[in-house]
Amino acid sequence: MIENETISALLRAWYEKYRRDLPWRETRDPYRIWISEIILQQTRVAQGMDYYLRFVDRFPDPASLAAAEEDEVMRLWQGLGYYSRARNLHAAAREIVSRHGGIFPKEHDAVRALKGIGDYTAAAILSFAWDQPYPVVDGNVFRVLSRLFAEETPIDTTAGKRIFTALADEVMDKRHPAVHNQAIMELGALQCLPKSPLCDGCPIAAHCLSHAAGTMESLPVKQGKSKSRPRYFHYIHIIYKGRTWIHRRSEKDIWTGLYEYPLIETERAMDLAELSRAEAFQQLLGEAGTLSIDTSVPTMKHVLSHQVIHATFYRIEIERVPSSLEAYLPIPLEETARYAMPRLITRYHEALKKAGEGVF
Ligand code: ADE
Repeated sequence: MIENETISALLRAWYEKYRRDLPWRETRDPYRIWISEIILQQTRVAQGMDYYLRFVDRFPDPASLAAAEEDEVMRLWQGLGYYSRARNLHAAAREIVSRHGGIFPKEHDAVRALKGIGDYTAAAILSFAWDQPYPVVDGNVFRVLSRLFAEETPIDTTAGKRIFTALADEVMDKRHPAVHNQAIMELGALQCLPKSPLCDGCPIAAHCLSHAAGTMESLPVKQGKSKSRPRYFHYIHIIYKGRTWIHRRSEKDIWTGLYEYPLIETERAMDLAELSRAEAFQQLLGEAGTLSIDTSVPTMKHVLSHQVIHATFYRIEIERVPSSLEAYLPIPLEETARYAMPRLITRYHEALKKAGEGVF
């Protein structure tokens, strides 16, 4: 079998030559590395760059993040999705301040114990910041290793995670954890692509068992995706004398902490005629007098990891303000941008703007 030291040396030499210059690679500050890794779990490098730069500019250290209002953190995160990640960042910054005097901890157990930090993120921070020998195992690494060793155990199983973590540990040269980990991830991002991998320029193609067998494209193996649950959202965009009403979503569902218009969720798709007879609709707008309803924005589909949201927006001018709206926050129509809202709702604002409606 091939020498793992050779593999690591080939990867590192290739990396030094072809690596992308990225802002989080210019620092050994564990805080900045942490922020970059959480953002990159959420989005591609090109889009993540702006978010990263804005985030560390506004919050340059754990203390400034810990001192922030949650709404501001959410606004900086807006558009990235998975808002629990932003809430966890905020909570972990507060843990760093309260438990570690504001200094990012250096021990594996203490880092792993921070909110929102799993095995991957802990390994990335500890290896990139301090050259500690923890192997990173992310999607790119699964792909590189499954192909290099022609390993067919599904990556989305407990056994797969154990096997690939052991392989990642084996191929890592413990004298160079930081560069090695960056290099194997970079190979996955630039060369060992999911479809049509660029084996021609690959520094380890000569050692790659799946390359020899021609099976690269069938690896890695995945056991199967869980099915997405459909949900039907009806957003009621109420308008009265230049005002609208919003509320902040509370715990235990998607988008906690973000703002949205009054929402009626139904078990199945419903048209306006049926919706307007529903109890929730009557409770909200039964006392609002004559309604002038604009349904010109088509139903929008919003795909999340385990659910697909079918959202319809009703722009409704009301005759008088019903008491049901006491549970909501009234805001001037033009101020919606001051509140962090799900991407789905900002897409609705964009559609209105295109149609020349409203002040968004
Ligand atoms: N994806 C995850 N972590 C990364 C990093 N440090 N650089 C580039 N892409 C990444």
